[in-house]
Amino acid sequence: MRVIVCASQKGGSGKTTLSGHIAVQAERQGAGPVAIIDTDPQGSLAEWWNSRTDDSPLFAKTSLDKLEQDLAALQAGGVRLAVIDTPPSVTAAIRQVMNLASLVVIPIRPSPHDLRAAAATVDLAETLDRSFVFVVNGATARARITADAAVTLSQHGTVAPVTLHHRTDFASSMIDGRTVMECDPRSRSAAEVVALWDYLASRLEKAAQRGLVFDGATPFGASRASRTFGRRLGTEARI
Ligand SMILES: Nc1ncnc2c1ncn2[C@@H]1O[C@H](COP(=O)(O)OP(=O)(O)OP(=O)(O)O)[C@@H](O)[C@H]1O
Ligand SMILES: [Mg+2]
Repeated sequence: MRVIVCASQKGGSGKTTLSGHIAVQAERQGAGPVAIIDTDPQGSLAEWWNSRTDDSPLFAKTSLDKLEQDLAALQAGGVRLAVIDTPPSVTAAIRQVMNLASLVVIPIRPSPHDLRAAAATVDLAETLDRSFVFVVNGATARARITADAAVTLSQHGTVAPVTLHHRTDFASSMIDGRTVMECDPRSRSAAEVVALWDYLASRLEKAAQRGLVFDGATPFGASRASRTFGRRLGTEARI
């Protein structure tokens, strides 16, 4: 089973939006069964799922202390991808969740505040030796700041070659538990999510080649714990 963790210390960067859209698109592309997990006490992803009429992807109710055990049960039950949403923080709990990731997706809005806040999340992923990818979200088309943000981020890690632009349907589609692909599969928003999933699927494939799959018996928890949190993204960010 592959595990995607959407994480970012910055509130409102798009973790929940991406979690729902990635999970639905993965299922649509035949990468399922997909399970979504909400580790955020705000419960936004759970509420979104509760308002869905379609029962896939499935929702796995769990708690942090049982997460590993419940992932093992999902894996044993045939789930091929788990998508985990997290709260906007960098805590021991986030560390525990991130440690189970095949791939960490870090949504970032193209703003100086978001770029600076990314440092802590990046440091954590690197300390745990997790693969991570930035996804620029909520971008304004043709804005200089979007291109500049991608350039700045690329100095610190891989930036997904697909940007999600600011479009109201990303928000409105989730009101009744759907996604942009389900509201209008021909929309530009839907095309972005399709392209993003295609890219993430290829990254998951590479992660699997590195053995970063959750096999239940031996979660890949070993980490390089001795790394320091020395690098700071924000000080170099000029956008
Ligand atoms: N690309 C986008 N275009 C338009 N609105 C967006 C986009 N991405 C996210 N939003 C909206 O921005 C708000 C914040 O997004 P979301 O809840 O996904 O962020 P989050 O990182 O999960 O926030 P939190 O840190 O509070 O959990 C929501 O209202 C969402 O609908
Ligand atoms: Mg959220």
